[in-house]
Amino acid sequence: MRVLYYFSMTGNGDKVASLLEKSGIAVRKVENLKPFPKSKFLSIMAGGFAAGIKKKEKLKDYDKNIEGFDEVIIGSPIWNSRFSTPINTVLNDLDLRGKKVSFVLYSGSGEGPKAIERINKEYSGSKITIIKEPKNNEQLESLLENV
Ligand SMILES: Cc1cc2nc3c(=O)[nH]c(=O)nc-3n(C[C@H](O)[C@H](O)[C@H](O)COP(=O)(O)O)c2cc1C
Repeated sequence: MRVLYYFSMTGNGDKVASLLEKSGIAVRKVENLKPFPKSKFLSIMAGGFAAGIKKKEKLKDYDKNIEGFDEVIIGSPIWNSRFSTPINTVLNDLDLRGKKVSFVLYSGSGEGPKAIERINKEYSGSKITIIKEPKNNEQLESLLENV
């Protein structure tokens, strides 16, 4: 059994999650306690800065029970080359020792080198799938077959 924990600010992660859910993966979305700024410019400035200092957001309550799942998939947008700050919280909350862990990252155009660096250091051997703008990506379904 597999479970996806993910965050999405502008819907790309939601698209990924709905397709993965159709393939039988359990899905848990996390949400920020305090909403992010509505303006795109401000959300990129604030989110990019916060990701740069590895901030952990306060999240709305969510189900952290991963007993019974043998694989945990983490879904995050790339922010400033890194994980989004809500996912920093998830990675801190969940005890992933002994679990198979894999990552689905969605980005504008980049490859998220800092996120990849962190995965290779802290979750070495994990499978990483990077998808550019899933909402507009015609290869989305075939890319998700590898998750
Ligand atoms: C705060 C912030 C920082 C971002 N930084 C990057 C980046 O460094 N590289 C990149 O390719 N895309 C970056 N993006 C674009 C998002 O990763 C991309 O649009 C992603 O698909 C958004 O997922 P979502 O719609 O599920 O929130 C950034 C977006 C935001 C809001």
